[in-house]
Amino acid sequence: MIEQRVWLAPMGGEAACAPLVAAVAEAGGFGWLGGAYLAPARLAAVIGQIRELTARPFGVNLFIPQAWRRDARREAAFLEALAPHHAVLGLPPPALPERFEEDFEAQLAVLRELRVPVIGFTFGDPGAARVAALHADGAQVVGTATNVPEALQLQASGCDAVIAQGAEAGAHRGSFIGPRDAGLVGTLALVPQVVDAVAIPVVAAGGIADARGVAAAQALGASAAAVGTAFLLADECPVSDAYRAALQAGAAHDTVLTQAFSGRWARGLANRFTLDTDALVQRGDLPDFPIPNALTRPLRQASAQAGSADYLSLWAGQALPLARRAPAAEIVRRLAAGWRP
Ligand SMILES: Cc1cc2nc3c(=O)[nH]c(=O)nc-3n(C[C@H](O)[C@H](O)[C@H](O)COP(=O)(O)O)c2cc1C
Repeated sequence: MIEQRVWLAPMGGEAACAPLVAAVAEAGGFGWLGGAYLAPARLAAVIGQIRELTARPFGVNLFIPQAWRRDARREAAFLEALAPHHAVLGLPPPALPERFEEDFEAQLAVLRELRVPVIGFTFGDPGAARVAALHADGAQVVGTATNVPEALQLQASGCDAVIAQGAEAGAHRGSFIGPRDAGLVGTLALVPQVVDAVAIPVVAAGGIADARGVAAAQALGASAAAVGTAFLLADECPVSDAYRAALQAGAAHDTVLTQAFSGRWARGLANRFTLDTDALVQRGDLPDFPIPNALTRPLRQASAQAGSADYLSLWAGQALPLARRAPAAEIVRRLAAGWRP
């Protein structure tokens, strides 16, 4: 995985699909599937599709489960805030679903059973016992850090490499140690600090969208560059038309950090939903992740179907304006031109 200097960063949700992972792998990059939102059976099916499309190795990434509490008052407030938006889209009033997240252990069991060669995590430390079990299977393990203490902990647990995710990055922060701002170090500052602190390979992520960014990652001491946002415009990336149009119109300063969609901090383009939910976010009054994520799903799906970006989680990083619509293989080639052999 480290021999490939350009990584398709793990992207869960709309972007998670076999053709994109396979196209990147076939073009000489390292492809990740963001598997966190896929039910175990679906996860197995997508892994099978990747293997039909490429014989090259790839990775699958999951969310480390978070400690979260039910809170009836916060849930009621969130449901109340969602109600008018449901009405706009002609949806029935919002309601609590039966479950809020996929079964992590069942997802991991699928990855082990199918002998996925590289397994990655974000939102936490998989822990030494789990890493040892994955190593015993023959898998390599990659963690995600947004500061030096997180990287040190992942190294101590036995991870084979760490993705250093700078604050510019699109979508969720991988942070798990310290207050929010301790996980918002920019890539330029973060990568060399992590490189100096750990002995395992460090992969730079956040704000890398062209050959210059890849060259910068190499200069900072990274062993590879992981790119998310720029691949959202790959032809193989199955984002909805409304999302793609918003990405093509978006400027760097249009991205905001918001908890509105999921309860966790994530970077995306501001839209009607992030603005309308901001007061609730500012009051710290959202239910814990992953409750909002489950509650906003119907709204997001209906918004995509209606061709509206108003209620989509428009995840995107600050390098968005550097992204260009192209086949994934061409994006890999453009990025790889920045890495000096
Ligand atoms: C749409 C989208 C979904 C993402 N989903 C995940 C995910 O499921 N797991 C993960 O570890 N990181 C996820 N990320 C973060 C990326 O892995 C990576 O850190 C980030 O995209 C790098 O910054 P960039 O967007 O500026 O390229 C996601 C990013 C985007 C843009």
